[in-house]
Amino acid sequence: MGDVIFEPLHFRTLTVKNRVFRSSISGRIDHYDGTGSQARVNWEERFARGGVGAIVSSHVPVHVRGRVLPNYAFIDRDDRIPFWPRVVDTVHKHDCAFILQPSYSGRQQDIAGVENEGIRPMTSSAKVDAFHGFPNRTMTVAEIQEVTGLLVAGAWRAVAAGVDGIEVHASSGYLLTQFLSSAINRRKDEYGGSLENRARLLLEVIRAIREEVGPDVHLQMKFSAVDRNDVFLPWARPGNTLEESVQIARWSEEAGADAIHVTSGAWFPHPMNPPGDLPVGDLAVTYASMLSSGSHVVRNWISFRSRLVSPLVRRAWARARGPVIEGINLPFARAIKQAVSVPVICTGGFQRASVIREAIERGDCDAVAIARPLIANPDLVQWYERGADQPDRPCTYCNKCMARVLTEPLGCYDESRYASRDEMLAEVMSIFRPDGFEEPEPAKQAD
Ligand SMILES: Cc1cc2nc3c(=O)[nH]c(=O)nc-3n(C[C@H](O)[C@H](O)[C@H](O)COP(=O)(O)O)c2cc1C
Ligand code: SF4
Repeated sequence: MGDVIFEPLHFRTLTVKNRVFRSSISGRIDHYDGTGSQARVNWEERFARGGVGAIVSSHVPVHVRGRVLPNYAFIDRDDRIPFWPRVVDTVHKHDCAFILQPSYSGRQQDIAGVENEGIRPMTSSAKVDAFHGFPNRTMTVAEIQEVTGLLVAGAWRAVAAGVDGIEVHASSGYLLTQFLSSAINRRKDEYGGSLENRARLLLEVIRAIREEVGPDVHLQMKFSAVDRNDVFLPWARPGNTLEESVQIARWSEEAGADAIHVTSGAWFPHPMNPPGDLPVGDLAVTYASMLSSGSHVVRNWISFRSRLVSPLVRRAWARARGPVIEGINLPFARAIKQAVSVPVICTGGFQRASVIREAIERGDCDAVAIARPLIANPDLVQWYERGADQPDRPCTYCNKCMARVLTEPLGCYDESRYASRDEMLAEVMSIFRPDGFEEPEPAKQAD
């Protein structure tokens, strides 16, 4: 029998060559004004070249008010369209599909950027989150409809750019989670209260995108199957349960989703997403860039810096996550897979071929989406092809890539994986060198 990891996955209108997807990884590698960069193209190509079947783009803002950090490539205007075929065509050369994630941050805006200075981000119902304490204000129904329109227009532009699919971003505390989650949404109108009301915006977005892009476009939905909003903050509301999420997945399929992508957590980063260490030392450096972002950010920053408190915070983070890292969301994916007839993709900690193979064979999910183990080893799939269970220098789940992302370029920052710090930095910086790029000859000095 062949290896299930290398069996093509047939969605309704899209076939992906194997079962390993590159999960979304946002980072500050584009231009401040939202123009895409060659570094973005190089970044995505390294995973396509390494053998993943599909890449899900990072969070792609549909409006500057909805971005998470500056330096992300946007899809907010028609003149952004021509950039994206550069990415799509590049990954297609490696027989890799490209799925774009049009996104809106809502209140979870880590660093708003100069265009948003003094403007409160919009959310389902104004209340600061217990982790970062981001300020926000309640959206009107007209604003909800406006943002729906922005997400639909973003999806249409992505299709015009030639992407192979769209991923609706309803996970990890961003705008659609802010409506779905019973821990966050306190509205009293038709967008709040019951599960049906909280899911209304997500389902409207799925239906509206489907109507706009037509029946032939692959459309998947990523969401948090359990909120566990109280996992690290016992005084907070717990949020959505798995039972509620099973129902949301069923409704999403009925509304037109071709696949469900399962993660967890009502905010980001969360002990379960990305599952791993809380790198307090790195956060003490980069989190300072967020000091004006939220009312609890100074508290957090001091906790990350304090020699007395930070080890306790780190230990509490690990305890909140629990002992499992690889496949942490598999029990949730399995429950959802039993309730829907479309394929289910699971993210969270996957690194060893044996774990992925067993999960698919057991029927827990149809494919896995990987972020950090691919940052560490973009050729992960080629290791599997050669029969290895994992690479020689695997991802350590230290989460320094996540901590560094606030200020530094995307990349692996675990020095222990490299021969030297210089080697690590050379690897991080390599995305800024276009393929085949040669250093220009130094200008000759006139005699
Ligand atoms: C630096 C970083 C940026 C991320 N950005 C996004 C994002 O823009 N959209 C998204 O849906 N998930 C994002 N994620 C979550 C990943 O896609 C993935 O679901 C999560 O890290 C768990 O997978 P892993 O254990 O393989 O890293 C990000 C994760 C990291 C570490
Ligand atoms: S910094 Fe490197 S080793 Fe650490 S979690 Fe990120 S990719 Fe993995």
